[in-house]
Amino acid sequence: MSRDVVAAMTAYTLELREAEIKLNQNESPADFPRALKEQVLASVLERPWNIYPDFESMLLRGALAKTHGYATENLLVGNGSNELLAAAVPTFVGPGTPVVFPKPSFALYEKLVAVAGGIALPIAIDPTTGVLPLDEMLRAIERCDNAIVIVCSPNNPTGGVLPDGGIDALLATGATVLFDRAYGDFAEDAMPALHDRLVTFSTFSKAWGLAGLRVGWLASTASTCREIRKVKLPYSLNIISEAVAATALDHDDIRTRNVANTIAERARMFEAMRQIDGVTPFPSRSNFIAFTTARNAKDVFNDLHARGILIRDIGAAVANALRVSVGNAEQNDSFLETLSSCA
Ligand SMILES: Cc1ncc(COP(=O)(O)O)c(C=O)c1O
Repeated sequence: MSRDVVAAMTAYTLELREAEIKLNQNESPADFPRALKEQVLASVLERPWNIYPDFESMLLRGALAKTHGYATENLLVGNGSNELLAAAVPTFVGPGTPVVFPKPSFALYEKLVAVAGGIALPIAIDPTTGVLPLDEMLRAIERCDNAIVIVCSPNNPTGGVLPDGGIDALLATGATVLFDRAYGDFAEDAMPALHDRLVTFSTFSKAWGLAGLRVGWLASTASTCREIRKVKLPYSLNIISEAVAATALDHDDIRTRNVANTIAERARMFEAMRQIDGVTPFPSRSNFIAFTTARNAKDVFNDLHARGILIRDIGAAVANALRVSVGNAEQNDSFLETLSSCA
């Protein structure tokens, strides 16, 4: 029998439908350039596949260190940032540890906290403001001893961000802060300075358009990285994904182009959605827009799907709300046209 806490959980899941236009998982609409795929695969073909990857993942950690001005000791890489979150949460959260986080947010956090035995202290988000509830979080932290904070900015699924100086304000309380900046590029954020009580999680899945490769990384001080490394699985990043991510870093124009296209399309979509009767989009600094509909949102979701467009029903997180990824101009046009006929 599983533990009670696991028996009470539901598995991480997602709408498993297919559609011609897929705007349900905050993926990049642009694939990685074919010529670079071929270049990396050619180099990986020359490597022995019967030998484990480099234990230290120095190729990618070295490339990230050079790109971001860190030492390799400040970095851990893994099989998506999910894997690194799964290592970091139990590094800091044990039975009875108070964990403050805005809600709704990325569902994985609550699962990891529950399994670790932590006490979840969710702070309600008002998604209409575009800003995360920093003051309420600070008050909740002050009421606890040694709180851990998990914060995602821009937040998934609502799209809002921490106010300027938010990370510093959270650190000033003495709390340990796990900062998920999976969507940070789309808010044109800056990496925060390293701090022993701050762990920053980034991913190649969004702005880089490499979700299929599963590569994430975290940054912190060397001593904090050493602690998380005790929990993290060894060899979790395979040689192909590592080589692709390291190559990507030599081509930052891919990321900057993806980000610029997404930001421009996001602004266009937001304005167009505002013009549709019954549709209320929430301010977003990410690569998706959450919105409510006057009609039953599930019906709108189904109507869109019937016309070949898959988005995300986030009704369990925000009442009668949906979330659409920012796609390319053609995909977004189809979405907007269809939404205006069924919202
Ligand atoms: C907030 C947030 N963090 C992390 C991830 C997962 O990133 P990765 O693909 O690097 O595991 C996602 C994926 O959608 C996400 O929404």
